[in-house]
Amino acid sequence: MALTQTQQFYPGMGLTTTKAPFIEVARSRGELYIEQPYELYSEENHEAWRRLYARIQDRWQRYATEKFLEGVSKLCLDPNRVPRLDDVNQFLAPLTGFKAKAVSGYVPAYIFFDCLRRREFPTTITVRDINSLDYLPEPDIFHDIAGHVPMHTDKRFADTLVRFGEAAHTAARIVQEIKDPELQVQRIISITRALARFFWFTIEFGLMRGRNGELKVYGSGLLSSYGEIAHAIESPEVQRYPILLEWVINQYFEIDHYQPLLFIVDSFDHLFDLVDQLERWMLEGKLNNVAPGEPTMSEEDIRSFLEAVVD
Ligand SMILES: [Fe+2]
Repeated sequence: MALTQTQQFYPGMGLTTTKAPFIEVARSRGELYIEQPYELYSEENHEAWRRLYARIQDRWQRYATEKFLEGVSKLCLDPNRVPRLDDVNQFLAPLTGFKAKAVSGYVPAYIFFDCLRRREFPTTITVRDINSLDYLPEPDIFHDIAGHVPMHTDKRFADTLVRFGEAAHTAARIVQEIKDPELQVQRIISITRALARFFWFTIEFGLMRGRNGELKVYGSGLLSSYGEIAHAIESPEVQRYPILLEWVINQYFEIDHYQPLLFIVDSFDHLFDLVDQLERWMLEGKLNNVAPGEPTMSEEDIRSFLEAVVD
């Protein structure tokens, strides 16, 4: 009898971002959606989660939006063990219909946005190396589950993600109607760049006005970073401005250092309305020639829009 995928690996072998044979095999087979082979987590993986979770508690209390703190308590995350996605989903799905869905790595742009439309959140299952808890260029399970998923318990925020997925669907429809292949690719790059920048400056690095006007963090890149969550709110080196759609879609960003520029929304109703506006602008052609620069679109990202099934 053929071995199942996880039987090829030993329990406790580890699912570390820099070393995860299970993930490497899944990727070599072209498998994007995978199971979470929980028994493969090593004690070191659990210890990394425990340390990450313990040290950020005070900073969450101080800097995170209350919607996030409510989300954390609703999800009942275990401070000591890497979470099981099934357990997380048991608490999450009844609240907003969202579910964390394990993936083997990078999800091409359209596929990622389309998952949001279906209330699925592509989730990395590896854990960063215990010796480099501070910085990680790619997501890990702490970023995805502790940084993103608590926000998905909020109905208005969850609806905003779905609305964003719908905007990406509109983008795919628009570009698939273009007959000239060169123009088609140029449009995909520009529109997707605008969508990615919006996502970055809101869902990943957004700030929001709190109940008494104080600044709070709702962006997951900040919520999962012990250093940057405080820097984002306290540092005089950070520029913080009320969000303007025309600015955000034309603003490039770099991922490998603390962000020098952050944007503030008033509420999640405000954020939802901005996504509406983003889609309207797309339909009016205002995203067709956004300023060049990061992020760049890979061949895979471009293909994902061309191959999208649009109804
Ligand atoms: Fe993220």
